Order: sequence, then structure tokens, then C-alpha cells
Amino acid sequence: MCGIMGYLGPKDAAPILVDGLRRLEYRGYDSAGIAVHDGTHLVVAKAEGKLDRLVGQLGSNPLAGSFGIGHTRWATHGPPSDRNAHPHADPAGDIAVVHNGIIENFTALKEDLVSRGASFTSETDTEVIAHLVAEEYDGDLLEAVRRAVRRAEGAYALVAMSQHEPGRIVAVRMISPLIVGVGDGEMFLASDIPAILHHTRSFAVIDNGEMVDLSPEGWHIETLDGERVDREVFEVDWDAEQAEKGGFAHFMLKEIFEQAAAATETLGGRVDEKGRVDLDGVDWPEGFVESLDRIWITACGTAYHAGLIAKEVFERLLRIPTETAYAHEMRYRDPIIAGTTMTIAVSQSGETADTLAAAGLAQERGSRLLALTNVVGSTLSREADDVLYTRAGPEISVASTKAYLTMLIGAYLLALAMGERRGAFDPVAHDEIVEALNHLPVKVEDALDRDGDVAAVAARFEGHDDVYFIGRGLDNAVAMEGSLKMKEISYIHSEAMPAGELKHGTLALVTEGTPVVVVLTQQDVYDKTVSAIQEVKARGGFVVAVAFDDDEEVGKHADEVLRIPRVPDLLSPVVAIVPMQLLAYHVAAARGHDIDQPRNLAKSVTVE
Ligand code: AGP
Repeated sequence: MCGIMGYLGPKDAAPILVDGLRRLEYRGYDSAGIAVHDGTHLVVAKAEGKLDRLVGQLGSNPLAGSFGIGHTRWATHGPPSDRNAHPHADPAGDIAVVHNGIIENFTALKEDLVSRGASFTSETDTEVIAHLVAEEYDGDLLEAVRRAVRRAEGAYALVAMSQHEPGRIVAVRMISPLIVGVGDGEMFLASDIPAILHHTRSFAVIDNGEMVDLSPEGWHIETLDGERVDREVFEVDWDAEQAEKGGFAHFMLKEIFEQAAAATETLGGRVDEKGRVDLDGVDWPEGFVESLDRIWITACGTAYHAGLIAKEVFERLLRIPTETAYAHEMRYRDPIIAGTTMTIAVSQSGETADTLAAAGLAQERGSRLLALTNVVGSTLSREADDVLYTRAGPEISVASTKAYLTMLIGAYLLALAMGERRGAFDPVAHDEIVEALNHLPVKVEDALDRDGDVAAVAARFEGHDDVYFIGRGLDNAVAMEGSLKMKEISYIHSEAMPAGELKHGTLALVTEGTPVVVVLTQQDVYDKTVSAIQEVKARGGFVVAVAFDDDEEVGKHADEVLRIPRVPDLLSPVVAIVPMQLLAYHVAAARGHDIDQPRNLAKSVTVE
């Protein structure tokens, strides 16, 4: 959690730091701050609230200096406030530090420092680090940080500078992500690549347990033990425009509308003209897939919902028992895992702490790990044995949309690839799925073209504070994602459940006008789901159905129908999610919410 930045070069550091922080705000946005060296002193500006408050402060009191560090915060230790905002300094103001993640032994460290006379101005764990670095400092910032980090336990990344060493910035990665951007005569540090994509396309990833030392002479990486590391600089070919709103009111809307193109990217080059699937980055050993007798899928939030779809697809197509587990549950269970198990960790960011922990547990127990992730070079992608990138491009909005849709396509591709190895398909079924997969981008585009219809239905949600989403099988799994979208950005209480479960309790909450969204794409359980609609209608509920264009029955039962183009039932989640994303968006927009940065949330949950 939190976003961190560093800049060293010939330009004015403050605007570059602020610009980077704006692009990192998805990691946290309850306060922000920067520190620059003005040639003599370290000077700090910070403010509680969104970045614009800091910008306002800098407008009246500009900070001059060509190197500095910055931070955008998502509170863990101490509530959002000016004094808990980063950067933090030691009492003498000699050392400034920004940090994300958690220092787990900070209480013990703080007590020790206090017992020796130290005083603190904030409630953060970060301030302890500033004290430790100052205490260890004897003229060499790199060595001081190294010694301080040896005393601090936890998962974090930090960036530090010293008043006594103008032009030097030192950073450490202890699990939380950190990258170096290499520009022309300038260097950057950031929590992720899009933060500095406007300045450079050349990057190096700092690995776990490594330090990076930036100075006017250049940069180098070394381990905590002081061994130099030769790290390759790689070029990123993302379009910087992808990281901008591109004319849409919100990143979320832009990302929803990018889904047809994202689907094309996910599929691109992975299915040949004969329908054979070739997954770059997936290199299963001979006989591995054939020997699988169990698949674990682990993830959180939206990625977990994608995992639920993957489970259904794997079990139906491959007949391999598959369990999808919340990563935060799985890591504290005693999962039954053997060499004949494959674990798939699903994560847009590849940095979700719980997902990394569950994936690590599976590996420890002998499972091969496949990462289904979007972010190239993310921790998950580096720790996994195999990686299938979703290629969705940068997802900025906290509410995940295109990442989900591309995860689903990734799951179908995995099912096909495994099915080919196991001889699980009859050729006709295989070819039908391949053909339908290849048509998905067009179908998604078609679903997006109906945004106007969805907006009209969204208007009917005005004044309602509860909404329910139901479906059966795959429809239930996709309803869960529709419900999550609704609650996280509209703040309307929303619940999803299997359609057959409604009558076992929740139906008591359905009264005159209560909106119930029913996903109705699975023909084998169609009539059963219609029965649930009748139960809702009998209590006066307002039913919005998500159904295929060729469904002539649904209009007899539902009050409103959000139509989706026809695809095989097995692939329906990829198109059914589109109107539900748009519905959540329009309901939230009508309520005037901060859609891209919903309250209390952050894009990437890198703490347990
Ligand atoms: C969904 O809109 C949320 N942003 C959240 O549930 C998210 O999917 C979850 O935190 C997992 O993130 P990840 O995919 O980056 O691991």
C-alpha cells in the first residue's frame, strides 16, 4: 500500500514527484508529501487529503531542488493527518524517508528509541526508520540504510535521503515493489512503471532484499550483504496514453471501454490457425499436466471471482477437481497439496500480499505455481514457475474491470492448453470453443455499444440502498463480481448469491421495488432461475435480467432486460459482466461518487 517516488536529475524535482504521485494515487490517497534538498537543507511539504491539497500548498510555498522523494499514503499506522503524512524525518531533520508496507517490529523499536530519549511526532511506523537511519549514519547513507533495515522486520519498500549528501538517494525493497527508471541524465524511483512512463521507457526492477544507490555518477544495485548486482535494463513499449483517461470522465469507464481491445491482446498470437493453444511464459514439464489430479486457485476480490469462473470451466472441460480459495483463508488453512497439484494465483497487480503468501505456501508444499497476472515484472510473476500475462494494459481505477475480463479469457486459454495435453476434448467441442473465443472481442464490443440502455436502467436504481444479484453456476459467479462492482463504487449495500439460495433467507429483505439483478445465461438451469424471478416478483421486487439477445422468454418475467450478444453458455461471463460493470458505473456516477478512488480502498492491497 502507498506509492513512493524518487527523482534525481537536472530538473526541478517537485513537479516531477507530484506528477508521479498523481499516477500512484490508486495505491492510496489519504495524504501526500514530498521532500527535496534545496542545496543546504532537506525541506518537506505534506498535507492530509488528496494530492491537490499538497499541490495547493506547493503553489504558495514552492520547494526548489533537483532531487527528492515523494509519497502518497493509505493509512496503516495512525489515521490520515498532516503529521502522519510522509516524508518522515529524524528529530534533527538530517534524514528524510518515505516508505510503504509495514515495519512489523516497530513497537519494540520505538520503545527502545524512546527509552534512549527519542521523541516522535507521528504515530507511523515509518518515523522509526528515519530515527534508525539517523542513528546509524556516519557519513554514508547507503551503509546507514543497510544497518537500519537489518533492524526492521516486515514487508516494505523505502526511499531515503540525507541532508549531508546532496544528490544521493538510497532505496530498499523488502517485498513491496520498487523500480528504477533510467532517463537521459536523470533517474527515477517508483512503486510502478506507469508513474514515470512519461519520462522514460527504460526500467530496472529491484528484487527482494536489494538496495539501490542513486547519485550524480549513476546508479547501482546491491544486496543487503553488499554484493553488487548486475541488473538488466528493459524497455517498456506501453503507450503512455494508455495510462491517461483518453477523454473519458473516469479511468473506470475508459477501462471498461478498453475491454474489447484488451480481449484481443489477451488472445493475440496464442491460438494458431489450427486452433492449437501456445501460451508464452507457460512451460509445463513433460507429463505434468497429464498427471494433475487437483488444481488450487487462489486470489482476492475481483481476481477471486475470476477464479470461481476458472474453477467451473476447468471442472467442466477437464474434469480435474479444482478449488478456488480466498488467499487470506488459504494461507492459514492446511491445504492438501502434492506434486500432482497445480496452483494458479490470480492477481491483476501481482502484488497482493495475501495472494503472494498463499502462492508461496503452495510452492513450499511442492505445487507448481502459475501466475495469471497483468503486471509484467510483478512479484507474483517473478516467483511463479509459469506466467500467463493477461495483457490488459495499465489498470488505474481501483474498481477492476478489464483485468477481470482478461483473467477470464486467460482461464479459457489455460483450460484449452491443458485439455489438449490431456486429450480431454472431442475435436468438435474444442473447435467450437476456439472459434467462440476468437469472436469474443467483437461480442464484447457489441455489449459495450449498449451503454445507453444500461444508463437508462441505472436511473431506476435512484433512491435504493440495497440491491441483490443472483444467478446459478457460472451466472452466480459473474453475479458476485457484478455485486462487488456495485458496492465498491456506488456504496449501495449489495449482495450476491445463488438464485436457489434466495428463498432460504435473503428473500425476507425483498420488498416493493427492491432491485434484484438476475443473470440468466445458462440454459441447463434457465427454468430454475426463472422460478427465483417469480419469487422476487411475488414480493414486489424490481427485476433486472441480464440475458442473451435470442432469449424470447425473459421479457415475460423481468421488469428490465440488459441484452447481451449470444455466445456459448460456457463463455457467457465474458459478455455478461459488461452491462453489470456499466450499471455500477452509472449508478455511482449519478450519486456523484469519486469513482476511480472509492473511499477506504486502494488498488493494490500489499498488506495482510
Ligand atoms: C476489485 O475491483 C478490487 N479492486 C479488488 O477486489 C481487487 O480485485 C483485489 O484487491 C485483488 O487485487 P489483485 O488482482 O491486484 O490481486
